[in-house]
Amino acid sequence: MPISALPQSTVRFLGSSVVITKPCDVVKELLDNAIDAGASFVEIAISPNYLDTIRVRDDGQGIDIEDFDALGKRTHTSKLRAFDELGSRARETLGFRGEALAAMNCLATITVTTRTVKDVVATRLQLKPKIGGVDNKQPVSAPVGTTVQITKLFETLPARKQYSLKNSAKYIQSTKDLLKACALARPDLRLSFKVLGEATHCWSYAPVCAAGVKEAALQLFGTTLANNCVHVSRNSACDQTTSPQLNQQLPEDFILEALIPKPGFEVRAVKGKGFYLSIDSRPISSHDAMAKKIMAIYKPYLNQAAGTGEHCASIPNPFVQLNIRCPPDSYDRRASNQAPGNNKGSNSRPRECAYTIVRTTLHTERNLVSKIEDMQNC
Ligand SMILES: Nc1ncnc2c1ncn2[C@@H]1O[C@H](COP(=O)(O)OP(=O)(O)O)[C@@H](O)[C@H]1O
Ligand SMILES: [Mg+2]
Repeated sequence: MPISALPQSTVRFLGSSVVITKPCDVVKELLDNAIDAGASFVEIAISPNYLDTIRVRDDGQGIDIEDFDALGKRTHTSKLRAFDELGSRARETLGFRGEALAAMNCLATITVTTRTVKDVVATRLQLKPKIGGVDNKQPVSAPVGTTVQITKLFETLPARKQYSLKNSAKYIQSTKDLLKACALARPDLRLSFKVLGEATHCWSYAPVCAAGVKEAALQLFGTTLANNCVHVSRNSACDQTTSPQLNQQLPEDFILEALIPKPGFEVRAVKGKGFYLSIDSRPISSHDAMAKKIMAIYKPYLNQAAGTGEHCASIPNPFVQLNIRCPPDSYDRRASNQAPGNNKGSNSRPRECAYTIVRTTLHTERNLVSKIEDMQNC
């Protein structure tokens, strides 16, 4: 779809805009855009202070020349035409408000290098500060895909710049955590991260052919963890043993895919590795209230399953990876104007969205709890 302005009525329904308060918010938004563009590889490079340069390169479909003038303009998106489409589109894309590039363009200088399969050469363009659209452009040599470079973030906001500079180490760690969660949620996506000029921060995830979450866990955490976990995938109708293919989702089905410690697991193998929750492959923060609640459900199971007889409630941060796949059209347009798990907007937004999916799409929290319990019992 071409990039165009959302109708004002849709903008009003969608309500909030994208807020960039930390440099890692920029990486999150650019990573989402790369995934939405169908990338199989995303490379992130930042300057050591995380503000001078943020560069995200992908091998996605690129941006059409006709769309250049719409880039960085508020409410301009290629992912949604009108509010009515939200029920179906929200599940397919990670963003649909057309606000992220516009928000960044008010806080930094944006250069986009992009090429689609139709283009003989790539184009590098600088966006007009604050208003979006093309300031200047030139042909350059680059492969198909898009590189978005953000420079001088928060230059016009001295207090936020100072605060971010002080916390750059923390934000670099948050970015690595985000990428790890992304690799577990989308094990077929190749990811790399580097801090320019500092070899110590290099991180990468390169999936083997047709990688699943177990292969991702093996690469990210090592064989000890992978050998102590089992991958389970259950249809929401757990007793529906005659259900055709688990991966063939029926209209009402939720599918739970989990990599969880297997019965008799070694406590030392899973402790400290963390809880990874995603909904339709969108990572949800482990600090999110829904994630905490689900973890609380798992703790008694872990107690029973531990081979050592050790009380697992005392295991710090045990490994559990869970992805909930929702049926098409299950996103409630009225209650949730944003895709669940989409960590955009104010801090309360992801929590609201997580509960929205529990309440309105899984019907009740109890329903989700029982589905997870069923999955453990089956
Ligand atoms: N990496 C990318 N590859 C291809 N298109 C992109 C990329 N980043 C941004 N775009 C285009 O720019 C538009 C605006 O992006 P953004 O401001 O993040 O809003 P949204 O993702 O909500 O549409 C997107 O809809 C998409 O068409
Ligand atoms: Mg976006």
